[in-house]
Amino acid sequence: LITEVRLRRVLDSRGNPTVEAEVTTESGGFGRAAAPSGASTGAHEATSLPASEAIASAREHAVPRIEGQVYAGDQRSVDAALRAADGTESFDEIGANSAVAISMAAATAAADTLGAPLYQHLGGAFRGNEFPTPLGNVIGGGEHAAEATHIQEFLAAPVGAPSVADAVFANARVHGAVGEILAERDVAAAKGDEGAWAPAIDDSEAFEIVAEATEQVAGEVGFDIGFGLDVAATELYDADEGVYRYGDTERTPDEQIEYVAGLVDEYDLVYVEDPLDEEDFEGFADLTDQVGSETLICGDDLFVTNTERLDRGIEAGAANALLVKPNQIGTLSDAFDATERAVENGLAPVISHRSGETEDTTIAHLAVATAAPFVKTGAVGGERTAKLNELIRTEETA
Ligand code: PGA
Ligand code: ZN
Repeated sequence: LITEVRLRRVLDSRGNPTVEAEVTTESGGFGRAAAPSGASTGAHEATSLPASEAIASAREHAVPRIEGQVYAGDQRSVDAALRAADGTESFDEIGANSAVAISMAAATAAADTLGAPLYQHLGGAFRGNEFPTPLGNVIGGGEHAAEATHIQEFLAAPVGAPSVADAVFANARVHGAVGEILAERDVAAAKGDEGAWAPAIDDSEAFEIVAEATEQVAGEVGFDIGFGLDVAATELYDADEGVYRYGDTERTPDEQIEYVAGLVDEYDLVYVEDPLDEEDFEGFADLTDQVGSETLICGDDLFVTNTERLDRGIEAGAANALLVKPNQIGTLSDAFDATERAVENGLAPVISHRSGETEDTTIAHLAVATAAPFVKTGAVGGERTAKLNELIRTEETA
């Protein structure tokens, strides 16, 4: 039985306040978790309130429905209590940031009570022995860095890695190699919100550099390192004009599909997230059709981890992968339901961080628990390596 829920403000990686929750159980279990936050958020995500408001409202409405009322190990009841306390679809009242922090802290407390690792509690004994391939953000711009690339994320995808540890080190090595190539070219580069290099270069130069870096590191490590993107195209789309804007270059939706399909061909992309605007289910379907099953077309802003939007996408054939961000929907139960629905319908689940993160490692456990083929949680930087290092540890003990 949960005896106490504590909430406080802590810092996220951008230096903004976020919600941290601590859950204590009657049998001495303890769990702590913190909500991440997005910068290129989808329009249909659950509501994130200012941390202090979310905390005050959760203390008033949610905590009394949980303390002394539900068991930490009964995740569905914890999450149902959060939903009942809130009363809205999108957690407008207590904030999805309070909800997800409490939801994840309860799971962590339950695992502690059992003396089991979190992935084991979440995934049980039937997950098999699959480990996710980490997608590592090595160059980025968009909403995550001013004056850098238009495409938000250029990702290393070490699909041939024999282990999670090898994959994690390979991604960091690609990040390093990109830094070296930028230095050779005399391009100054700071880092964006997720630790990726954020140089003021054209997207075409970023493609060149990442292709060179992945090839070079693949040669060193002796396994295949693929190339992926998060276009985050909603941020490029001018809905009034009906065009995608890359600086002075404009592309109509048809031209955008042609452009991305061309990139898939030219760079053998294994993964493309949000290639089109978040409302364009049909465009997603056209592109998914064109690229075939070798390339994952992944919906982030399109689906926002929401089972109803996912169902719409399944109906339309809009994608072959689902990005899973628990804070987009507010509870672990909802994130699990979306993941399960995706898998049942042949979509690959990809468990993901946000651009604003903390040292929280829940998503690493979620990725292992759900046997997700990919996890997206950066390449370098403490709030990113917190998850990556947890994956390395987990692989050793699982
Ligand atoms: P966000 O970006 O966390 O800023 O939304 C990550 C993503 O678009 O995948
Ligand atoms: Zn995205």
